[in-house]
Amino acid sequence: MENRRSFIKKSAFVLGAIGSGMACTTEAQSDNNTANLSSTQAIPTTIATWDNQEATATAMQVLQNGGSALDAVEAGAKIPEANAEDTSVGYGGLPDAKGIVTLDACIMDHLGNAGSVTFLQGIKHPISVARKVMEETNHVMLSGQGALEFALRHGFEQENLLVETSKLAWEEWKMEQKSPLIGKDNHDTIGILAMDAQGNISGACTTSGAAYKLHGRVGDSPILGAGMFVDNEVGGACATGLGELVMTTLGSFLIVELMRNGASPQQACEEAIGRIVKRYKNWVTEDKLQVGYLALNKKSEYGYYSIRKGYSVAVSQNGKNKNLDSKFAIR
Ligand code: GLY
Repeated sequence: MENRRSFIKKSAFVLGAIGSGMACTTEAQSDNNTANLSSTQAIPTTIATWDNQEATATAMQVLQNGGSALDAVEAGAKIPEANAEDTSVGYGGLPDAKGIVTLDACIMDHLGNAGSVTFLQGIKHPISVARKVMEETNHVMLSGQGALEFALRHGFEQENLLVETSKLAWEEWKMEQKSPLIGKDNHDTIGILAMDAQGNISGACTTSGAAYKLHGRVGDSPILGAGMFVDNEVGGACATGLGELVMTTLGSFLIVELMRNGASPQQACEEAIGRIVKRYKNWVTEDKLQVGYLALNKKSEYGYYSIRKGYSVAVSQNGKNKNLDSKFAIR
């Protein structure tokens, strides 16, 4: 029997001093990512990886209509999931090496409740399945066939997610077997955070993962603490880019813990990228790999940073909806 799950997280970890292991210069937080705060009053904010301005605007609309941060991030994440032209999220996503679109997603609310799906096939909105897992079961993560059966039991429809252009791209890849770089034109994963008028933060992350990955590969996006993490006492963080680098450094959890220990969102994102660059320097440099983070704290301040040029974030705050290019570690 599936029951509503209420899971109150208690953090068991306190990380060491900020600055340990830093491999890149921490720059002062720029004016454009600091909310104009005179107190701790919440400024409704939505922020998403890449040029997902439609997603942040949609999420902001939900907040303006009185919706919760959780409703906002789900609504925002569904925008690229339904967009056939977005080749790295949901419908239209590039398939794995076998030509099958497989999807990963997770969602987390301000109480620490969380849901996640991995290796899900044939469902257009994995983020909504992840929310169902959170709300209707005693579990956090469902995978593969079990996740699909759960989705079908809860009224989701199975459909073909492999659009013709993605199928053609896969067929070309099969001839050449050349991995595409993750960049602006082949961007990867929406991670989205929202703070509502009550000051509560929720997050969502959804992706079709790395194009032409091995069948069965799961990335960082459905893994809480890697692709996304929220602790409503502190803030939230999301990741995009090569999941293997995010999973092995647990970037989103790290960023939240750095903020807990006093780092600004910008400093925390730079430190998390710095850890990747330090540990995997040769791999990252030679293969031109990309990871980008974003973070939001309880004061409605946000930050973002990436390994290399090309990453950007979409932000909606104070009536403005904009796309901002990220600073980066490797020039
Ligand atoms: N960040 C998405 C993935 O690596 O699957």
